[in-house]
Amino acid sequence: MIQKQKGCNDIYGHEAKVWKYVESVIDATMEKYNYGYIRTPLFEASELFHRGIGESTDIVTKETYDFQDRGGRKITLRPEGTAGVVRSYIENKMYGDPNQPVKVYYNGTMYRYERPQSGRDRELTQFGMEVLGSDDPFSDAEVISLAVNIYKMLGLKEIKVNINSLGDKESRDNYRKALIDYFKPHISELCEDCNARIDKNPLRILDCKVDADSELMKNAPKTIDYLNEESKNRFETVKEYLDILGVSYEVNPNIVRGLDYYNHTVFEIEAKVEGFGSNNVLGGGGRYNGLVSQLDGPETPCIGFACGVGRLVKALELEQVKMPLVEDIDLFLMYVNEEEKKYAVYLSQELRMAGFIVDTEYTGRALKGQFKQADRLNAKFTAVLNSEDLNNNEVKIKNQKTGEEDVISLDVLIYYLDEKCKDDEFDYCEDDCDCEHEDHECCGDHSCGCGHCHE
Ligand code: HAM
Repeated sequence: MIQKQKGCNDIYGHEAKVWKYVESVIDATMEKYNYGYIRTPLFEASELFHRGIGESTDIVTKETYDFQDRGGRKITLRPEGTAGVVRSYIENKMYGDPNQPVKVYYNGTMYRYERPQSGRDRELTQFGMEVLGSDDPFSDAEVISLAVNIYKMLGLKEIKVNINSLGDKESRDNYRKALIDYFKPHISELCEDCNARIDKNPLRILDCKVDADSELMKNAPKTIDYLNEESKNRFETVKEYLDILGVSYEVNPNIVRGLDYYNHTVFEIEAKVEGFGSNNVLGGGGRYNGLVSQLDGPETPCIGFACGVGRLVKALELEQVKMPLVEDIDLFLMYVNEEEKKYAVYLSQELRMAGFIVDTEYTGRALKGQFKQADRLNAKFTAVLNSEDLNNNEVKIKNQKTGEEDVISLDVLIYYLDEKCKDDEFDYCEDDCDCEHEDHECCGDHSCGCGHCHE
């Protein structure tokens, strides 16, 4: 039997419904913030990631899926979404659009050749957002709050926002020097990779997985102590806007991020729910003012964020968040003979096109088996088509919950189902939900953010 590759997942059944729901909330929220959807290719010229993410990052040195195509081109499967969006921004001259900043979001698979473990896959899905063309600290705060609001809309409660600042070029240069001065005398105590990093890119020593817990690493200089006045003020302004937006956060000077393109604001959002395990960073991002020009575009200040959808789904499950998943169907149509079957074929299509979720029998089961199938599918209504009723232009419909039966003219079946299915449409919150709706009645559009009330 051929098996899936290590670090890859098949997502189907109930889990697929959760993914689709999560993606629908992401889409709806991004729309409210007026972000446009962007799809960029799964593979790009390897050079894009080498120059964009950084030659000495773990992602580029150890984790990319690189290959040569049949034309001899060096290709890499995208390990993240930002570099591709920036390439597209430059190539399509989006910087020339008077509608600035360009605000885009994406949701797609990325590939990293990592050691697979819980929360760390080789094929992963990220949703992400990028704001290209704004240097306003308000954009930094808004991206952070947007990320938090998506989690809130989904009903996630146990999260923590960590923010930090790497500062501008001058601050980063000062910090780089401090790191070299600090690590150089002890370099023999660090791993081989860190020895190579000290001159090339000392900031990357701080991502080292081998020496992460050493005292030397813990006492390393912190970025925040090397910010110049301007960078400090900028960071203060970002925090003020976060306060206005009601985002709780902690300044964590250990957040430096594993990609080279960042400056100023960097942040990560952690899942705090018990049982999550060590790979608990749901998402991270930051400002990357130098990347567009580094990739041959005009100077363009940018900020963005990306979240691992797999980790997000895991957090929702661990927090046992209730989701409005469609776990039932409106009607299951049953039949016995060929004439009834033909009518089932016709009627199922008519009702589906009228907006109902309808299923029928495909495997030749006897009526008893069809009833069992209707139960398995959680059908709200069932109908056994029989020749006599059909000749009278009627159908007998049974409400599976109440056991009530009605004989309905086929001419008004759609109106009948419409009425009955609507009755069942609204749901109510959990009693302990803290939403503000009277009697916890559903608002229908998730705007209260309680994550419980739903259509
Ligand atoms: P990143 O921190 O490399 O940032 O990835 C963002 C999120 O993707 C992580 O927090 C995690 O949830 C998820 N993730 C990363 N690697 C894996 C993996 N192997 N398995 C499962 N999930 C994973 C970026 O990718 C940046 N492009 C974010 C960004 C956007 N910065 C600015 N704009």
